[in-house]
Amino acid sequence: MTEATEATAPTTPFDHAERRIWSGKAEAYADTYAHLCAHLVPALLDAAEAGPGTRVLDVGCGSGTVSAAAVARGASVYAADADPGMAAATRRAVPGVTAHIARLPELPYANDTFDAVVGNFVLNHVGRPLAALAELRRITRPGGRVAVTIWRAPGAPGQTLIGRAAQAAGQTLIGRAAQAAGLTRPAWLPALAPEDDFPRTPEGLAALLDTAGLLDAECSETAWEHRCDPDTWWAGAEQGIGAIGQVLTSGGPEGVAAARRAYDDLRAEFRTREGLLVLPHVALLAHGEA
Ligand SMILES: C[S@@+](CC[C@H](N)C(=O)[O-])C[C@H]1O[C@@H](n2cnc3c(N)ncnc32)[C@H](O)[C@@H]1O
Repeated sequence: MTEATEATAPTTPFDHAERRIWSGKAEAYADTYAHLCAHLVPALLDAAEAGPGTRVLDVGCGSGTVSAAAVARGASVYAADADPGMAAATRRAVPGVTAHIARLPELPYANDTFDAVVGNFVLNHVGRPLAALAELRRITRPGGRVAVTIWRAPGAPGQTLIGRAAQAAGQTLIGRAAQAAGLTRPAWLPALAPEDDFPRTPEGLAALLDTAGLLDAECSETAWEHRCDPDTWWAGAEQGIGAIGQVLTSGGPEGVAAARRAYDDLRAEFRTREGLLVLPHVALLAHGEA
C-alpha cells in the first residue's frame, strides 16, 4: 500500500465538481450530515461481515463514522477518501486507522487486499459508479464482501436531493426553499452522465454490483425518519455541503437569506412539538461477494 497517491484514473466533470464540493468541508460535514449518514452503518458493517480481526477498508471515509464503528467491532481498519481534509479528519477521529488520500475508481491497493470493503453514501458521489464497484471487487479477497449504501431515487421529502430524484420525490425541503428563492443548479455542477447512471432502486443497484463481477448481489431498502434541530439541518447546506449546498451558496448571501426565509416557512410541515424536524429518508444497502 502506498502512503498517499495522486489519482491517475480519468476524471469526469462530475468528479471535478465533487472535489470542489467536499474541499474544506470535513468539519462542517462531521457536525451535520455525518449524523444522518450514520444511520445505516451497523447494517452496512453486518452486510460486510466486519468483525474481530477482519481487514476492512472504509472507502470515502468522510469524517470517520464507519471507521470508528469498524474499530469498535475489533476490525483492522484502513480508510481512504478523495478529499485530503476528510482523510485527515478520519485520522484525527479514529486513532489507529491508516487513512489514505485516494480517489475511486482507482485505489492504491493490491488485488485481494481486504476481507471487506465498505462505502457509506459514496457511490452516489463518483462519476463512474460501475468502474468504482469493479475496483472495490478487485481489492477484496475472493470470498470477501463489498457493501455499499446510496440514496434511493425517488427519495423522500425530508432529503436534500436535487434534480430528477428530487422531482420524483415531489421536491424536498431544502430544495423547495432554494426553488422559492429562485436558486438553480450552477453551470459548473453537472449531473452524472446518463451513460454512467443506473436506476437508484434495489434492482438497479443489485444489477450494478452483478455487472461489476460481485457474486450473489443483494440489495435492500430502508426508510427512516432523521430527527435533528432545524438550524443544524440548514447549516450543512448553508456551508455548501453536497449538491444542494452548492445550489444554495451559488445565490450569494442574499440568495441564502431568501432561501432561509422560505425554509423557515416550509419546515413547519416537518416539525415536532419539541421544535425538532422529523425528516423522512430512504436509502439502499447492497452487498456482494468478491
Ligand atoms: C456523503 S460523504 C460520506 C462519508 C462517510 N462515508 C460517512 O458515512 O459519513 C461522501 C464522501 O465520499 C468522498 N468521495 C467522493 N467522491 C469520492 C471518490 N471518487 N473517491 C473517494 N472518495 C470520494 C467525499 O470526499 C466524502 O468524504
